[in-house]
Formats: sequence, C-alpha cells, structure tokens
Amino acid sequence: MISSILQGAKILATGSSVPDLCLNNQDLSQIVETSDDWIINRTGIKERRILNGGQKSIVDLASSASIEALNKASMNPTNIDLIILATSSPDDLFGSASELQAKIGAVKAVAFDLTAACSGFVLGIVTAAQFIQNGSYNNILVVGADALSKWIDWSDRSTCILFGDAAGAAIIQSCSKEDNGILGFQLNTDGSKSYQLSIPYEKNNEKVVQKESLNISQGRFKNIIMNGKEVYKFAVSQVPISILQCLHSLNILPEDINWLLLHQANERILHAVANRLSINSNKIISNLSKYGNTSAASIPLALNEALNEKKIKHNDIIVISGFGAGLTWGTVVIKWKC
Ligand code: ACO
Repeated sequence: MISSILQGAKILATGSSVPDLCLNNQDLSQIVETSDDWIINRTGIKERRILNGGQKSIVDLASSASIEALNKASMNPTNIDLIILATSSPDDLFGSASELQAKIGAVKAVAFDLTAACSGFVLGIVTAAQFIQNGSYNNILVVGADALSKWIDWSDRSTCILFGDAAGAAIIQSCSKEDNGILGFQLNTDGSKSYQLSIPYEKNNEKVVQKESLNISQGRFKNIIMNGKEVYKFAVSQVPISILQCLHSLNILPEDINWLLLHQANERILHAVANRLSINSNKIISNLSKYGNTSAASIPLALNEALNEKKIKHNDIIVISGFGAGLTWGTVVIKWKC
C-alpha cells in the first residue's frame, strides 16, 4: 500500500455534537409499548439525543462538530480544501455540505454530500484518503451527520427505539509517506438486499400533469422500514469477513489490533463480531448506550469520545467498520498518529 501512494494521510483532529434533548427508554415507553429492560437486553441502548422542535438542524450539529475539530487542530477553516458530508438526512435534497461550508467559513473548500447510510463515514474517510494520498488535496473535513428522527415512524417500536441524532467530524491531513495513518480499506455493496433497510420514495397515483403523452406524478418519502433480524444476521456474518480481508491485505493479525470501532448499531452486534474475530471485548469502543444508532455520525462520535478520554495512543491500530442500508459495509484500518 505505502509504495503506491504519493503522500501519507492521517486523522489530525476530531469533534462531535449531539442535540440537548435526551430521550431515555422510560420516555419511549410512554410513546410505544416497550420497556427499559427489553431495549437494554436486545440493543444495549439506554438513551438517545433527538433534535427537538425544529430549532437545530443537521447542519448546526455538523458545524459544531467541525468547529471542535478545527479548534483542536488550531486550523483556520480557510485551509480546508474539501468537505465531505456523509448523511442520509440532509436539510436539502440537493445536499447540505455547501451550507456547512458557508456556516463554518471554509470558503476555499469544495463541498459535497455522500449518501451511504451507516457506512457513510467509512466511505467518507476512504474517499478523503484517495484525494490526499494521490496528492490532490492537503486538508479534508469529513463529517458524518444524521437526524433519522425525522424519518422514523414513531409508532413502530421495532425501529423508533434504535436511532438518535448526532454529528461527528474528522480532519484528514497530508503527511509524509512514513507517517501514513490510513493503512488500507475493504468496501462492499449488495443492492439486491436494499429492501431490507430503506427510506423508500413512494409515487403518488395522483397525476400533477396529465396532458396528451405527458403523465407526471409526484410522491413523497416514507418512513424507515427495516427487517431487523435480517440486518442483524447480515452485519454479524459479513462485517468479520470484511475486517479479515482488510487485515490480511495489510499483513496484520486480529490479535495485533488495539481497538475495534464498529458502527454503533447494537451492543450484541459489537460483541458478536468481536467474538468471531477472537478479539477481546475490552478492545471494543462502544458508546451506544448513551446515543443509540446515530447512523453516519456513530463512528466519529465514538472515536471523538475515545480520544477525549485518552484511550487511543500513538501507533495504536484501530479497525473501523461501517454497515447498513444499501446494503453497504466496509472496513478502514487506521494507525493512530498523535
Ligand atoms: N419493545 C418490546 N418488544 C419489542 C420491541 C420493543 N421496542 N420491538 C420488537 N418487539 C417484539 C417483537 O414484536 C417480537 O415479538 P413477537 O415475538 O411476539 O413477535 C419480539 O419483540 C422479538 O422481535 P425481534 O424483531 O425478533 O427482536 P430482535 O431480537 O431481532 O431485536 C432489533 C430487534 C433490536 C431491531 C435487532 O434485530 C437489531 O438490532 N437488528 C439490527 C439493526 C441494525 O443493526 N441496523 C443497522 C443499520 S442502520 C442504518 O443503516 C440506517
């Protein structure tokens, strides 16, 4: 890998942001028929943060997370060359990255959205690494931000208990080849299973234009639909394969990794994947009990928390895997450089 890159790439700094409103399992049992026990036993989630009353938006969360990362790096936003906003819940269907660019004053940055649900941050990091390692850009801001609360069916107890809103950000910077910290990746998509987890667009039968051969109808997006059991089985079976393939390509053994940072979907999934790889559970980074599944935000939110707690040390190997709608899944292996 190292010989094929023009320059190295490393994560320079991270940040995160969550809404103020905290909804615990007890609160949810007032909305749907569920219980604290059921949710904790099946998912490990105790509470989640939700955007309330339309006061804040996904761009507000993304910008606070980005500003925290910029401050930690002591970097002026005008030094950012590219912004990649991984989100499936933008404020604007044409994309929200440009609004984020304006809000943080990254006036020289190109900005675009990347939609890959809960794998969005992994795909964002891998995309950023390509632009840096081939010499195109030096400073890239990758943000994972989602507010799936706006797409949840709040009467469906099998999905509304899972999700929370949040944003997490990472600045990826160029460095010498020897200091390269983004070692390798392995990515997958299986569109034939997209129906297992989706926010489908439904055409309305009512025609908005019907004239001679013109027959135009419009519709609306529906709520999240998910076959929880199938998504669970997919994650537990496919994520370990992706991790093993990626580690194998880098000549790294599972026992050599220091941290396993998976998309924070369900505590049982985190432990099942670690078990399959014979990775000790004390290497699992997990904070989903406090935030639930925050989709594209979950990995940078957990990474930022682990860094703030000073868990991760110089040269630690972190295996990061995302999985979710698409279906998409993949792994990126990081060697942490302080
Ligand atoms: N409270 C109480 N009972 C419930 C609840 C609830 N909130 N939800 C479901 N139940 C009931 C069901 O109705 C069912 O009852 P029945 O046996 O009488 O029919 C029973 O509990 C078991 O339901 P299952 O769906 O079989 O429960 P399971 O153990 O599979 O857990 C869960 C469900 C937590 C959703 C699990 O399947 C899961 O985590 N799946 C993975 C989801 C995921 O990882 N998504 C990641 C991607 S997200 C993205 O990309 C946006």
